[in-house]
Amino acid sequence: MTKKIILTGDRPTGRLHIGHYVGSLRRRVELQNSGLYDEIYIMIADAQALTDNAEHPEKVRENVLNVALDYLSCGIDPKLSNIFIQSQVSALCELCFYYMDLFSEAWLKRNPTLKAEIKMRGFEDSIPIGFLTYPVSQAADITAFKATTVPTGEDQKPMLEQTRDIVEKFNAIYGETLVLPEILLPSNAACLRLPGTDGKAKMSKSLGNCIYLSDTEEEVWQKVKTMYTDQNHLRVEDPGQVEGNPVFTYLDAFAKDEDFPKYGLEYKNLDEMKDHYRRGGLGDVKVKKFLNNVLQAELRPIRERRAYWEARIPEVCEILRAGSEKAAAVADQTLKEVKRAMKIDYFSPDGLLAVKEC
Ligand code: TRP
Repeated sequence: MTKKIILTGDRPTGRLHIGHYVGSLRRRVELQNSGLYDEIYIMIADAQALTDNAEHPEKVRENVLNVALDYLSCGIDPKLSNIFIQSQVSALCELCFYYMDLFSEAWLKRNPTLKAEIKMRGFEDSIPIGFLTYPVSQAADITAFKATTVPTGEDQKPMLEQTRDIVEKFNAIYGETLVLPEILLPSNAACLRLPGTDGKAKMSKSLGNCIYLSDTEEEVWQKVKTMYTDQNHLRVEDPGQVEGNPVFTYLDAFAKDEDFPKYGLEYKNLDEMKDHYRRGGLGDVKVKKFLNNVLQAELRPIRERRAYWEARIPEVCEILRAGSEKAAAVADQTLKEVKRAMKIDYFSPDGLLAVKEC
């Protein structure tokens, strides 16, 4: 039976927020603890972060530890999951170099996430070559570990599709070598893309609309208290709108039925609370206090684990070092198989000498 292997990762360009958490991190921890996977690799994608931060290496360097702390705080257990740093696994660059031969620039540019990112960064006239080709490097990340499953956010879907294109074409040309991966998206729609606290479509550091996993209890409450809601819901008795109201979207992503009695609310579930809000008579402050209780309960153990690991930074560095060493060994093995399939394993017993003989 083929092994079930997970690979996923994040760019270390900032601290991780609750959008990352519901979009991917929470699921990774569940998958890790399910015991259903043979190997789990979680990658801090510093090399990918540098593709549009070449002039800010200090920003990437600083966030490598931030992201590692975010992982450990969320419950990624280094005994069960291998956390590593992308740039320390040089086979990934080599794999990427060979995969780049398989497809055209036009194919690459069809990737909608890449297109949107190019536009957002104002790169239209001058795209760094590394940035343009990062979807190929991502295919190297995934295939180097023979990943069968990539739990990640919706924005990564085009990367997975292009990775699958690469795997299929590589295997068709060079023989069955690479493993075809599947994406695993959050099942709850609210978790696919959590809006910012200001109601904007996405949480982003530059917009200042994020709740970070490392925020204090007080910071979280301040952000919840000032969250955007339905702007026409002026008085408690006014009917309110739930759709597009981020307070309710967050509740969709976080609230469980048992939270209602736990925090003294009379509703059986979120649908009942939404109905009350729609009818009128339910104030925003009450809803926000409930959201705050729910969020704090989820973030408290994360905060406690963070404090534990922040007091043990040398241990965190050792986890990353050992994880990177192990990841490099696995990726080297795949690179060997790839080179063999491509007939560039010249010095193996059936390499160049065998050519001469025939
Ligand atoms: N592109 C991902 C992000 O922006 C990071 C990443 C790099 C990744 N390589 C990956 C995710 C491989 C999943 C699989 O956060």
